[in-house]
Amino acid sequence: MTDPILRLTDVVKSYDGKTRALDEISLSVNRSEVISIIGPSGCGKSTLLRTVNGLEPIQGGSIRFHDRAVAAPGTKDAAGTKWQQVRQQIGMVFQSYELFPHLDVIDNLLLGPKVVQKADLSEARERGLALLRRVGLEDRADAFPRQLSGGQKQRVAIVRALMMQPEIMLLDEITASLDPEMVREVLDVVLELARDGMTMLIVTHEMAFARAISDRVVFMDAGRIVETGPAEPFFEHPRTERARRFLNTFEFEAPEKD
Ligand SMILES: Nc1ncnc2c1ncn2[C@@H]1O[C@H](COP(=O)(O)OP(=O)(O)O)[C@@H](O)[C@H]1O
Ligand SMILES: [Mg+2]
Repeated sequence: MTDPILRLTDVVKSYDGKTRALDEISLSVNRSEVISIIGPSGCGKSTLLRTVNGLEPIQGGSIRFHDRAVAAPGTKDAAGTKWQQVRQQIGMVFQSYELFPHLDVIDNLLLGPKVVQKADLSEARERGLALLRRVGLEDRADAFPRQLSGGQKQRVAIVRALMMQPEIMLLDEITASLDPEMVREVLDVVLELARDGMTMLIVTHEMAFARAISDRVVFMDAGRIVETGPAEPFFEHPRTERARRFLNTFEFEAPEKD
C-alpha cells in the first residue's frame, strides 16, 4: 500500500469563528484515485477544495500533501520550502474560467510556466500545443477568450491547470455555468484525464457523471462527511436517509450499459 498523496485529518474550517464550514473532515486520497464530492449547496464542498489548495487557512486538524503540511500562502515549511512551490503540484479549475481576456489562448497557458516556474518557454509552448490537441483545440491557440464558447474556455482552463504538471486536480463545478450542449465536451476531457491516471477531487452536480467516473464518492452535509464509499453501491443503495433524499432531488439518469 503506497502512501496517500493527500491526507486530511479532522479538518475544521470556520469563516466567522463560530459556525463550521468544515467540521472534522478526514479523507485520504491515493494516487490515481478519482473522488467525487457531492452534497447540497453550502455544505462545504468549495471550502474543502480551497483548503486543500492552501487558499483558506484552517482552524483545526491537518492537511498533508505527501509529507508536507498544506500551509497558508507566504509561509514556509520546516524544510524551508515555500508552500507556493508545493502548490504548483495541485491544479484547480473553477466554475468561472478565469482566463485573462487580453491574452490569447497560448499566452494564457504560458503565463503559469513563465511567472512561477521560470520554465523553458519553447518546451512549455510545445507542451501547451500538445495539450490543446488532446482537448480538440489545436486550431484555437491564437484565439482570445471572447472568441471561444464556454465549453472551449473551460477546456482551455483545464489545460492551463495541466500546464503545471500537477499531481492532483481539484475541479469545482466546472460545468455548472455551461449550456447543456457544452457539458459533454468538458466532461469527456475529465474522463480522459481519469483514464490516464490523474488523481482528482471533483465537485459536481452531474450525478450520472459522478457515478461513471468516480472510484469513491464523498457525500457532505453541513460541513461533515455523512457518507463515503465506492461510487456504484453509493448511488445504488445509499446507506443514509440524508443521501437518499439528496439523490432523489435529481432526475437520475443511469449511465448507459456497454
Ligand atoms: N468566503 C466566505 N466567507 C464566509 N463564509 C463563507 C465563505 N465561503 C463560504 N462560506 C460559507 O461556508 C459554508 C460552505 O460554503 P461552500 O464551501 O461554498 O459550500 P458549497 O461549495 O458546498 O456550496 C456556507 O455556509 C457558506 O455560506
Ligand atoms: Mg461550491
